[in-house]
Amino acid sequence: MLAGGSGMRLHPMTRAVSKQLLPVYDKPMIYYPLSLLLLAGIRDILVVTTPHDAESFVRLLGDGSQLGVSIRYAVQPSPRGLADAFLVGERFIDGDDVALILGDNLFYGQGLEAMLRVAAGEPDGATIFTYPVRDPTAYGVAEIDAEGRVRSIEEKPAKPRSTFAVTGLYFYDRQVVDIARSLTPSGRGELEITDVNRRYLAQGQLRAQQFGRGVAWLDTGTPDALLQAGHFVEAVQNRQGWKIACLEEVAWRKGYIDDAQVRALAAASPNEYGSYLLALLG
Ligand code: TTP
Repeated sequence: MLAGGSGMRLHPMTRAVSKQLLPVYDKPMIYYPLSLLLLAGIRDILVVTTPHDAESFVRLLGDGSQLGVSIRYAVQPSPRGLADAFLVGERFIDGDDVALILGDNLFYGQGLEAMLRVAAGEPDGATIFTYPVRDPTAYGVAEIDAEGRVRSIEEKPAKPRSTFAVTGLYFYDRQVVDIARSLTPSGRGELEITDVNRRYLAQGQLRAQQFGRGVAWLDTGTPDALLQAGHFVEAVQNRQGWKIACLEEVAWRKGYIDDAQVRALAAASPNEYGSYLLALLG
């Protein structure tokens, strides 16, 4: 999970606090992408942070044992791009398959878990997830043919060939570290994830799963987007009574932790959040 970056678009909010620790309604932002990894059955997690924010993430998430998972940390000395995650995390990946999720992406909707399981179960190649957006120019954009195959991917195109943005969730096979190592930085000085995806595309090994309109994909990188994400979470939660991305709940439902552990976690938050956890136990 990439949780570094400069958060320039959110300055001055992010001058002293990592973007991924800012609140999205009632939880730190990182809870949302982290909950998705737990849902996907991924229990071995590396959080990549800036040198000065690492300590705060450790304070928030610890070693993951309270959630029945393993969380380790690595520092990215400077924001060298999304594909740099595979170089920073090379020892952690250790020749295995790996998923990458951006720490500022929020996904919500029915059927997500099944789609993630399919991607996680693929033996080779890469899987990206696309999402229709009104203005794709700020994203990687995938052109998809009638059979659902990717025909091209472009990074922040001025004239997009489709409205399908590439979301911040990717699954790769073991080739990804070597591919990342072979990249040269783009014009903006970053190792681009789009270049990784293009390499898989050229090899005929890139799959795209399409999130439909029943899924919400929000990113939180600008003040407007951050506020909208907070309003979205507030509206859904207060209507349904179910929380979005409550890590303790996901871990408990997945069987990673038991009732006694949930009770202990609830006691650590003697407020509405803790009461919610206790109410889950019935
Ligand atoms: P971006 O939104 O592209 O960049 P940013 O977070 O630095 O924000 P800004 O553009 O406003 O300066 O990053 C997407 C996610 O990836 C975000 O969660 C931060 C993270 N990231 C890293 O961890 N390392 C990096 O080198 C980059 C570029 C991003």
